[in-house]
Amino acid sequence: MQIPESARTQFIWNLVHSSLQIRARIYFLGSSRSFSKMRFLDNAFDTVFTMKDKLYAAADSSIIFEIDPKTLETLNKVNFSKEFPGDAKIKFTTAHPQRTDEGSVINISVTHAQKSTYDVIEIPPSTGEQGEHPLEGGKLLCSIPPTSGVAYIHSFCITENYVVVPETPLVLNLWEAYTRKFKDSSAAEWFQWKENQRSRFHVVDRKQGSYAGIFTADPFFVFHQVNAFEDDGKIFLDACCFHDHKIIDQTYLHNMRSPIVPGEKKLDVPDVRRYELPLKTLEM
Ligand SMILES: [Fe+2]
Repeated sequence: MQIPESARTQFIWNLVHSSLQIRARIYFLGSSRSFSKMRFLDNAFDTVFTMKDKLYAAADSSIIFEIDPKTLETLNKVNFSKEFPGDAKIKFTTAHPQRTDEGSVINISVTHAQKSTYDVIEIPPSTGEQGEHPLEGGKLLCSIPPTSGVAYIHSFCITENYVVVPETPLVLNLWEAYTRKFKDSSAAEWFQWKENQRSRFHVVDRKQGSYAGIFTADPFFVFHQVNAFEDDGKIFLDACCFHDHKIIDQTYLHNMRSPIVPGEKKLDVPDVRRYELPLKTLEM
């Protein structure tokens, strides 16, 4: 009997969520421990950013750490999953939140659940009141259903009026993860590259908090965006794009530690590409 993918995904999620009560950090170079014993990883190694006039360290996780800008001592731990006041159940946020000119912070929460979503969230600037919670005033700007599978999103970009959510063909395969890969594997193995799936740019009007539309492009994988801006009715988006997902396997330690062979490439080098997204041709 052919089980529809949606039913299969829901079944697996129920099993995973209710029976094992696990919390997974989608973390490419993850632990080899049994998934059921995996701790919630919170190694904020990826980036620093300011929010409500305080400095934080973050990575792909729902947990961020306030740090002292002079001593780099940890001052406070903030858990989006437990403390975000907006209408979104946050599992993981991207490693690279974006700060707007107005001083708010925007991030994307990728939720793998019965109803998976890319949730664009915003934390406003500080009110200046004493005792203000780090996520005070946080709200859900826009919730976007994944197109086909839940993609890994490491970063994104914003412009004056828009948030652009990149959805590449690297998607979480829950069936694969549950049946074979949770145990003695890294999370890199829980993803699959859908080579026939196009990459997508979901565009959100960040002032209106509404979905503006979608652009598609030939498949690519991206960790990091470079820049984005609006001009002449278009969004210009620069990003470091790989032709596929091979870079992830190339960052395993056995490859990184192996001797360099002249003429052989250890790591794929991304193209720095510019995408032009004409706003009048946005598709819904
Ligand atoms: Fe990063």
